[in-house]
Amino acid sequence: MRKVLITALLLVLALGCCAHADDLRIGACIYRFNDAFMLRFRTAMAEEAGKAGAKIEFADGQDSQITQDEQIDKFIADGVSVLVVNPVDRMTSQNIIDKAKAANIPVVFINREPTPEMLASYERAYYVGAKAEESGTEAGELIAEYFKAHPEADKNKDGKIQFILLKGQNGHQDMILRSKFSVQAIKDAGFEPVELASAIANWDKLEAMKIMNGFVMSIGPEVIEAVIANNDEMALGAVEALKIVDYNMGNKDAYIPVVGVDANASALDAMDKGEMLGTVMNDADNQGISSVRLAVALASGKDTSTIGYPITDGKYIWIPYQKVTRGEKQ
Ligand code: GAL
Ligand code: CA
Repeated sequence: MRKVLITALLLVLALGCCAHADDLRIGACIYRFNDAFMLRFRTAMAEEAGKAGAKIEFADGQDSQITQDEQIDKFIADGVSVLVVNPVDRMTSQNIIDKAKAANIPVVFINREPTPEMLASYERAYYVGAKAEESGTEAGELIAEYFKAHPEADKNKDGKIQFILLKGQNGHQDMILRSKFSVQAIKDAGFEPVELASAIANWDKLEAMKIMNGFVMSIGPEVIEAVIANNDEMALGAVEALKIVDYNMGNKDAYIPVVGVDANASALDAMDKGEMLGTVMNDADNQGISSVRLAVALASGKDTSTIGYPITDGKYIWIPYQKVTRGEKQ
């Protein structure tokens, strides 16, 4: 009798406290499904959830914070064990944190960073991402390294690098810091960067192509010495615009070094063909895996030090970036 009681008690304790991996449900909100890098991220998350035996459901915010807020309300009402959120507008994350806190559900932000103050307002709020400034520095270094190896890239021989900057969505830490640090890295390498033009192309290839097409027409491809894009999709859009005027098609006399960030397969292809100089690997696999492992640990009451990724300042998992170039284009 006593044994039965103790067993029953243990069972109640075990079930009552926390969700187990097999009945654990992750509600994952993505800012928009139609994003090449976030697709890699989502794929890694789904795979890791499968391995952990956790259920994961993805919601497409369609680039609308209003839509995403509704999806978060629904996940909470449905009783998910934990939220993983890629906010549409990272500056409104406090609202999401307040909702998660009121429901006592842990929340792991990914890819779009809430402010430290927001994260500090809830002990079960975390961030998984990569340091934006690092990717900016590395992208700028790629350009500087190219100019060191190819003095002829300074077409007007003024010792300066005349560049075009294509920026991601306004307010995104990767838009702000990649822009700033890529230009800084060029300076730090001993070159004077001169911005010919810059524009926001919202991470989007087509938008970037149209904008770059305009710059090529108004400025002239022979004047442009480099293109720095905040991500690969926009870099590829720029490459498309350059190809229209027979640039970046394998002829060394009609070439402008273009760099992006992410290392998406399409960018690596373009690099193999000599159309694009380089990129910085944004490690979707490790960001996806670590965010799911952290979410599972938080929801099941497991020690977060067992997930295989260090947690910094009690709040952050940082996945490093890495420069990628191909062959002699370096
Ligand atoms: C960045 C990435 C972009 C885009 C953006 C979405 O980290 O480089 O390509 O996916 O996140 O928030
Ligand atoms: Ca120059």
